[in-house]
Amino acid sequence: MKRLLVAATWCLLACACGGTIPSDGRIAVVPRPVSVVETEGVFRLAPGVVVACEAGDAVCGRAVAALDEVLRPIFGRGAAVRASGDGQQAQVFVVRDSALGPEAYRLTVAPECVRIEAGGPAGAFYAVQTLRQLIPAAALGAGNAAAVELPCATIEDAPRMGYRGAMLDVCRHFFTVEEVKAMLDLMALHKLNVFHWHLTDDQGWRIAIDRYPELTRVGSVRRRTLIGRDPGGEYDETCRYDETPHGGFYTKEQIRDVVAYAAERGITVIPEIEFPGHAVAALASCPWLSCTGEQYEVRQTWDIDDRVFCPGKETTFEFIEGVLAEVLELFPSEYIHIGGDECPMTFWQKCPHCAARMRSEGLTEWRQLQNYATARVERFLNAHGRRLIGWDEILEGDVTPTATIMSWRGAAGGVRAARQGNRAIMSPSEYCYLDYYQSEDRDAEPLAWGGYVSVAKSYSFDPFADLTPEQQRCIVGVQGNLWTEYIADWAHAQYMLLPRLAALAEVAWSPAGGAYDDFRSRMERMRREYDACGFRYAEHMFGE
Ligand code: ACM
Ligand code: ZN
Repeated sequence: MKRLLVAATWCLLACACGGTIPSDGRIAVVPRPVSVVETEGVFRLAPGVVVACEAGDAVCGRAVAALDEVLRPIFGRGAAVRASGDGQQAQVFVVRDSALGPEAYRLTVAPECVRIEAGGPAGAFYAVQTLRQLIPAAALGAGNAAAVELPCATIEDAPRMGYRGAMLDVCRHFFTVEEVKAMLDLMALHKLNVFHWHLTDDQGWRIAIDRYPELTRVGSVRRRTLIGRDPGGEYDETCRYDETPHGGFYTKEQIRDVVAYAAERGITVIPEIEFPGHAVAALASCPWLSCTGEQYEVRQTWDIDDRVFCPGKETTFEFIEGVLAEVLELFPSEYIHIGGDECPMTFWQKCPHCAARMRSEGLTEWRQLQNYATARVERFLNAHGRRLIGWDEILEGDVTPTATIMSWRGAAGGVRAARQGNRAIMSPSEYCYLDYYQSEDRDAEPLAWGGYVSVAKSYSFDPFADLTPEQQRCIVGVQGNLWTEYIADWAHAQYMLLPRLAALAEVAWSPAGGAYDDFRSRMERMRREYDACGFRYAEHMFGE
């Protein structure tokens, strides 16, 4: 017999509280579920709702915790949810259904009860995110609603893609643990499941490494920061700087906290440690890692830097393996991102160590030196049971068949990767770069990197275009990226993320063939969710 938790008297609580907020009468879920069948009637949900499920089962625990988080801002006081084994008194039933995939769920709302069937804890969490969107918008953030009505329906759902990502660059501007957790909340609302944490770059090293404390002592702070648009290499007396030092890093304890917070929301955290380019903060901390050994400062401007790790020296590989050994202890994710983008080879071409490496490895082109460095790091990761992700530059030359490609310079890298059998994550800048302008009226927008990606453009992305069904299996996911050169605070970051991230979430989660007008109309309900959560967002699509 299943051991079930103690029951509670929901009916007494519910009936004592007076008026009920009526159903919106319309189901508007984002991302669009696989199937929604609307049925007659409404279900009345009130504080102290009793959930019947198997005690100790992770599916039960996740459903109860998620429901409590959703209902507390609506009902306020006391426990909004109680787990119970007493099916007689329960209004919500949670059941594990192993025939469903780990992220799949079936949500049945009937006049007498709600039933959640889930393949695993993530599925249960997503069922509750969908249930959240059935709650009348008028009740969001009410804090003291007596009861709410949900429209009756049966919703069957499962994600189209296993990797549904969002990247945050915390190097160009630092974001606190609380802000990172808010990003995870925002992702969970959209059923995104991978947080790509861009932790090292020219302008800041943001992760504590015990073996090399100078990485954060020196590399986490830049002395000053360029103001306005980067002139692209022409740094003269006309450039203006904010002379306030900008810094910040995460301790190991903070990182463990973030990883655990993410896991509770079904999100895997993938760290990115850039190698061999985007390395100036590391080289400023440990000058012996560069080709020349010169002392550099942490970079104060944006754009591409030709000061990169020296792959000629053995000590460079001792360093990166030492760093990654500590990174692996913190991040359980299968994938580890090692960057690999935008790595100029100018210093390599003048370096005796690099020349010696070219000779000893029989390499004939400089590009192959990056392939050599990447493959060596990949061997290290594989030996520790992990897989490597790199930006699409690692495809140039001889990429190993086991590397996963993150395609950003258009979709071509992902297409090429899939055609040769490499896994790929699609993140082409023209659809997925959330640091680009989101309106054609650039003067009315805060300074952005350039480019223009509207919500409609993000929504129109077809990650499987130009691929055969077999090649499509290599495309494991879709990701939106937020680079933060011109984004100095969390309010601005939210404005850039939303609602474009919702469009990408729907691309990654929902069956193909969604209509933008239908998405837009469902987003009116999601907008109320943003308001209730206090998320900032761009309003362009709502007025279109
Ligand atoms: C990139 O945007 N440099 C990956
Ligand atoms: Zn070198």
